[in-house]
Amino acid sequence: MDPTSPPPSSSSTLPPKPPPNPFLLLLLLLLPFFPLPSLAAFTPADNYLFVCGAAASVASADGRIFRPDSSATLSTRRSSSLSSPSPSSPLLRSARLFPRPSAYSFPLSPSSTANGLLLRLHFLPFPHPSFNLSAALFSVFAAGSPLLSRFSAPPSPLLKEFFIKPPSSSLSLLLSFTPSFPSSFAFVNAIELFSAPNNLFSDTATPIPLSSPSPSPPLSRHALETLHRINVGGPLVTPTNDTLWRTWNPDPQFLDTPFLAKVVDFTGQINYPVGGATREVAPETVYGTAREMDKGNSSNSSLPSNSFNITWTFPVSSSIHGYLVRLHFCDIVSKALNELYFDVYINSYSACKDLDLSALAGFTLASPYYMDFVVMHSNNSGRIQVSVGPSERSLAWKSNAILNGVEILNIRGVVSFPREEKRKKYPAVVLMSVLGSLLLVCVLIVLIVVMLRCRRQKKERPELQESVTWSPLPVFRGSSYSRLTELSSASPATNLNLRLKIPFFEILLATNNFNENAQIGSGGFGKVYKGVLRDGTKVAVKRGVRGSQQGLGEFQTEIVVLSKIRHRHLVSLIGYCEEQSEMILVYEFMEKGPLREHLYGSSHPCLSWKQRLEICIGSARGLHYLHTGCAQGIIHRDVKSSNILLDENYTAKVADFGLSKLGSQLNQTHVSTGVKGSFGYLDPEYFKTQQLTDKSDVYSFGVVLLEVLCARPVIDQSLPWEQVNLAEWAMLWQKKGQIERVIDPSLKGKIDRRSLRKFGETVEKCLAQYGIDRPAMGDVLWNLEYVLQLHEKAMQREQSGDSTNSSSHVASPRVIHDPSSSMTAGRNDSMAEAS
Ligand SMILES: *[C@@H]1O[C@H](CO)[C@@H](O)[C@H](O)[C@H]1NC(C)=O
Ligand SMILES: *[C@@H]1O[C@H](CO)[C@@H](O)[C@H](O)[C@H]1NC(C)=O
Ligand SMILES: *[C@@H]1O[C@H](CO)[C@@H](O)[C@H](O)[C@H]1NC(C)=O
Ligand SMILES: *[C@@H]1O[C@H](CO)[C@@H](O)[C@H](O)[C@H]1NC(C)=O
Ligand SMILES: *[C@@H]1O[C@H](CO)[C@@H](O)[C@H](O)[C@H]1NC(C)=O
Ligand SMILES: *[C@@H]1O[C@H](CO)[C@@H](O)[C@H](O)[C@H]1NC(C)=O
Repeated sequence: MDPTSPPPSSSSTLPPKPPPNPFLLLLLLLLPFFPLPSLAAFTPADNYLFVCGAAASVASADGRIFRPDSSATLSTRRSSSLSSPSPSSPLLRSARLFPRPSAYSFPLSPSSTANGLLLRLHFLPFPHPSFNLSAALFSVFAAGSPLLSRFSAPPSPLLKEFFIKPPSSSLSLLLSFTPSFPSSFAFVNAIELFSAPNNLFSDTATPIPLSSPSPSPPLSRHALETLHRINVGGPLVTPTNDTLWRTWNPDPQFLDTPFLAKVVDFTGQINYPVGGATREVAPETVYGTAREMDKGNSSNSSLPSNSFNITWTFPVSSSIHGYLVRLHFCDIVSKALNELYFDVYINSYSACKDLDLSALAGFTLASPYYMDFVVMHSNNSGRIQVSVGPSERSLAWKSNAILNGVEILNIRGVVSFPREEKRKKYPAVVLMSVLGSLLLVCVLIVLIVVMLRCRRQKKERPELQESVTWSPLPVFRGSSYSRLTELSSASPATNLNLRLKIPFFEILLATNNFNENAQIGSGGFGKVYKGVLRDGTKVAVKRGVRGSQQGLGEFQTEIVVLSKIRHRHLVSLIGYCEEQSEMILVYEFMEKGPLREHLYGSSHPCLSWKQRLEICIGSARGLHYLHTGCAQGIIHRDVKSSNILLDENYTAKVADFGLSKLGSQLNQTHVSTGVKGSFGYLDPEYFKTQQLTDKSDVYSFGVVLLEVLCARPVIDQSLPWEQVNLAEWAMLWQKKGQIERVIDPSLKGKIDRRSLRKFGETVEKCLAQYGIDRPAMGDVLWNLEYVLQLHEKAMQREQSGDSTNSSSHVASPRVIHDPSSSMTAGRNDSMAEAS
């Protein structure tokens, strides 16, 4: 036991201790050195117990509570819950069935990545009217490592147990179920996943034969699958009696020569050593029973009475990476120290000679000790043989050999990232590797210099549209999760920017499995979630409705469009994900959300006129850039106040290019397509002619300007009919020269009159019936800047002590230029802005 972290209940044996009593401190320090009979049970840091497909929690036979597998941890909603009353175990009376590749994602605490996890999968293909579960054929992966391949469950209850140590950077474990062919399906009845205790499995294991090289990569990088767990000479130990809810089977069926071995059942105290085997390695029941040589019976046979082996043979499935064999010993046969010396053989190879438990287990009798071996090549394929026999060192009359427990685990695939794995694949001479890495460093330096040069050259050519040259997750690019990527159908859009690709598990991680609480909106494309990438970047994750054809087209349009443009007033695309037939777009997160929420219908503080103008100017810059800044003019087609987002500084950014079309790609002044856009913002000309030009965006933007001024929805059915449509209602008053009658009450008296008048005129131009009469976005932009200047001038004057002056009097705008007279100059400036 770790003295620095006594188990929680050990303190419960002591009175509460607010004042640090020196005696208590001493007791606490000494506590680990005294074996206390009722030490705390192991409490895993993470403990996920799921009864899959069930409606309610159930208690297992050992008293643990298994919860229904909530869909929150599942990456797919395309799964079915099945149940059957027939199985005797409540854990096996339900199942979740996956017709498509699906994954659970389990958030991990640091303790789980440091110590590893135990994973148990319960299977029982119970009879069901609609599904023949016996016909299921599937694979299971955990953290990129295959645990079960082309697996089909036998007709009786089956428990598959694995030890997994995810890479230390992992924040969650992805457990995926993949049907082996399209018409097949996967299922699981129950899942246990919990943190293992410290040092349950380490990298130190003796290779068998002894001369063979140590396993590479080290053991902890592999997933381990339990094949046998045997309580030698003892009874069946059920999860109720085991510290880690394991099952230990009795050994008779594996014993080769039962008449040569007899059971030892110890009734005394098992003395767990400090820093050695713990109760979590194996409980008292395992160490308190054993088999020893039965010399009384051996005289009957032809064998020499004092010298023979006891041998167990265990059938094993084939393994690529070999087997981990753990042998448990505890000297419960000797009357005194240094009586017992014996040899251990695995597959007839000597594994340990003259094993002296007295010395190894801390010079105490009945003290547990265990040894790990890696059996690389099983010569007698299909089985592993363990033998114990007396050593030459032992005195003839005392010769004996014992075994208390055996665990055999299949060493499965590596749980890691392939790049790291490759490095370990070359066990080359040290000198060679040193020289190699020196060479590599030189090459890298040269590469970096060349790349820097290239970059500088790129920057010197501003006309070149700078493509996105970074990825938010460089470490995970091309990760071992490619197995999941493999499953998704190949992307039909060939010109997608692959550098922006984000693995699906990263998205699950970022959004806490698309947690409902993280949802910040929804639209035609799908739901929008807030998320945080591993590097701390806050993102908005747009998850497309899967399987919608229209959605897929827009998805690809958006990736193509967004990966091409970067602008201060356009929401940037950070990445996308197409795995597992998902359509996910990851954008920079906009702290203050949509503009609309700051105008009406929420509790946000009221925006000042200056703030509103700055937001309008920002959005106008973004749209102006879309229309003119790129080689191909882009028409947004869905300009509205909910598509203008604000960052933490209230900087406006135009979002949602899902409806965008590359306008001039067809080398025409308009694009003829089906009418798309939002009611209330729609250009009447576009609606009639179905011909789209950038002037349609100008119209919609005019409506946004009115929304900003009047702080009401563009369509409000609750109002009298003449007021329902904001554009019509406000223009009615604008034409009468009385726009101030309909403005946001909170702005009344706070807007300079000239500023308001100019704003009203600008809106009116934007809302002209015909596109040809509307100004270009650049003109709108400069008009708005003029409006702001007018307003600021008025404010300045008011502040400069002339408090008697009302806002209706404005100094002559000598320094202010009305943009309607100097448009061309303005346009050039705005081009410089967009880079
Ligand atoms: C279920 O599938 C298994 C394996 O394909 C097959 O042997 C069995 O006959 C099937 N049972 C039923 C009831 O269809
Ligand atoms: C297991 O635990 C139960 C109840 O705690 C006890 O009655 C039983 O004897 C135990 N069995 C073993 C093998 O220790
Ligand atoms: C010898 O083995 C037989 C079974 O083979 C067993 O019944 C008997 O008890 C054993 N004798 C002794 C002395 O252990
Ligand atoms: C003596 O050994 C034979 C086989 O070698 C066995 O069948 C028999 O039961 C043994 N007799 C006793 C008394 O253990
Ligand atoms: C025990 O088995 C090993 C390996 O098969 C063998 O080398 C050894 O001689 C055996 N010992 C005895 C006493 O039979
Ligand atoms: C496997 O066993 C055979 C004899 O059964 C032996 O000749 C061969 O050397 C063994 N191979 C290894 C790798 O141990």
